[in-house]
Amino acid sequence: MSRPHPMMFERALASAVRAPSPHNTQPWRFVLDGETLEVWLDRARVLGVADPLAREARLSGGAAAFNAVVSLGAEGMATVVRTVPDPREPDLLAVIRLDGNRKITQAGRDLAEAVFRRHTNRRPFLDRLVPPVVRVALESAALEEGGQVEYLDASGRFSTVTTLVRRAEALQENDLAFRAEAASWMRHEPEALDGVPTVATGPPPYGARAVSLRASHANPELPPREFEQDPLLAAVLTRDRGPHAEVRAGMAMQHVLLTATAAGLATSFLSQPFETPQTRDALDRIFDGCGQAHTLLRIGYGQPTATTARRPVADVLTRRVSPDVPAR
Ligand SMILES: Cc1cc2nc3c(=O)[nH]c(=O)nc-3n(C[C@H](O)[C@H](O)[C@H](O)COP(=O)(O)O)c2cc1C
Repeated sequence: MSRPHPMMFERALASAVRAPSPHNTQPWRFVLDGETLEVWLDRARVLGVADPLAREARLSGGAAAFNAVVSLGAEGMATVVRTVPDPREPDLLAVIRLDGNRKITQAGRDLAEAVFRRHTNRRPFLDRLVPPVVRVALESAALEEGGQVEYLDASGRFSTVTTLVRRAEALQENDLAFRAEAASWMRHEPEALDGVPTVATGPPPYGARAVSLRASHANPELPPREFEQDPLLAAVLTRDRGPHAEVRAGMAMQHVLLTATAAGLATSFLSQPFETPQTRDALDRIFDGCGQAHTLLRIGYGQPTATTARRPVADVLTRRVSPDVPAR
């Protein structure tokens, strides 16, 4: 095996922190131990109201792990990712270990490059259908990580799920604690390194709309716009449940998002029904028999919008110095 260059881990970490996270909380920290990279949950950055069980934070950690794997893969490094939970260390989400060399492919390079272009797009998408070949590519992306994509238009669940999204959005809009938490992560100062900046918000919807995006991410200063009437909505599922499945689902979600980005698609999230207990149970019943739904993605064609800031890698990285391995 050719030796990994130390800069490969720097680049893998720069990719990892580009992962999405709810309200751009970035609830992760990393430990580099020789040639092993650990992804940890940062409890201090878990949303207490919207995500008390740290489910969305674990999805984010899985996405960060996947970005690191993609970056190392594009440099010819094969990796093994261990996500089996360690009961003594419940906040250790994933351990990425190098596993020899792998062939560098154009597809791998495209994904690695998509890490830095992917962003959440809260603006209207075009009413243009996503071609079947791309739909299949997104399904394969989830499968490769042990997840599954289910398109709501194909499964007949579109209207039941979009009704739940609207219901959850209304519940959250009437919940002071929820609104206060969402507001506390909005950022108006350009130098902010976390949170959702004003440039990443979307316009208020004009007229009837098929899906309700988060009201807190609609910018009242923008003129209202009509949203697409027929968005492609995809649920990311796993067969099993629990913290381990959530990290794996995060990897599957990120593989889907990067594949979509590489195919020229825009994406955003509809997480409201996962975050209110009343709608979460209903959502579980809707997908009963298919597995555990972890996230709901809106996928389509749209004008690229702004990417958001991240805290520097140095703020989230610890280098573990083993007695027999000199620190680099
Ligand atoms: C698990 C999860 C849930 C999310 N839920 C929503 C959501 O409901 N609405 C939304 O607009 N963005 C949602 N996001 C997107 C984040 O707000 C976004 O990733 C973050 O602000 C960073 O911006 P970026 O994705 O453009 O890099 C979610 C992200 C994750 C990982």
